[in-house]
Amino acid sequence: MKKLVVLTGSGISAESGLKTFRESGGLWENYDVMEVASYAGWTQNMELVLQFYNERRTQLRDAQPNNGHRGLVELQKYFDVQIITQNVDNLHEKAGSKNVLHLHGVLTRARSTGDPELVYDIGYEPIKPGDKCEKGFQLRPDIVWFGEAVPAIEEAASLTSTADIFVVIGTSMVVYPATGIIDYVPKNTPVYLIDPNDVAVPIYRHIHFIREKAGAGVEKLLKQLLHEPPK
Ligand code: APR
Repeated sequence: MKKLVVLTGSGISAESGLKTFRESGGLWENYDVMEVASYAGWTQNMELVLQFYNERRTQLRDAQPNNGHRGLVELQKYFDVQIITQNVDNLHEKAGSKNVLHLHGVLTRARSTGDPELVYDIGYEPIKPGDKCEKGFQLRPDIVWFGEAVPAIEEAASLTSTADIFVVIGTSMVVYPATGIIDYVPKNTPVYLIDPNDVAVPIYRHIHFIREKAGAGVEKLLKQLLHEPPK
């Protein structure tokens, strides 16, 4: 089976009711990103950071995958699909996608602040000040904050370098190193991009642009890949 690698961003979860970041009404319109999604913010106001992620985790409990997530599951019938997501929601997994690599962590996990190896599945439960790991250190969201290393980036680049088809869905492609994996797409691999808005793709190559929301866009992609397979 051909290898189909997909890079997803918050846009794929928009139709599930989860906010994107940089659009009007997005998360970064109501929060100062450096206060709630950086280590400095954590040291300055741990309660605010915990509250920010507790609210998003609670919202995630009732969120359901949309046709965009489900369409990627359908693609698993025809391709060896590997998803690389910037999202911290679990909607790809809820939809049934098998190979999902999270670059920025996951909302449903907590991590020890004293031993990064200590990670706990917490589902949709809140993390509170005083919640500690078995070694007595405060728990934090298992999320990659701005300025922190992205441990999965090498694996993501390696997976991308094996892609026969590369698809970008629902990301403004402004955050690195996540966006930088597109540099690893083999030169003869077709690139498809699904987004209802224009996206400045930071590479000079032909892009098959599907100007749709994720749900309709993945449906169109499936048709194009099955009936007009890339050369
Ligand atoms: N379907 C598909 N794409 C959509 C939809 C939709 N229904 N609605 C919006 N979009 C697109 C927007 O046009 C935009 O290009 O999704 C993209 C969202 O961009 P951002 O808000 O910048 O989100 P994202 O690219 O995922 O941000 C990357 O930034 O803040 C950090 O860690 C955070 O993982 C996040 C990273």
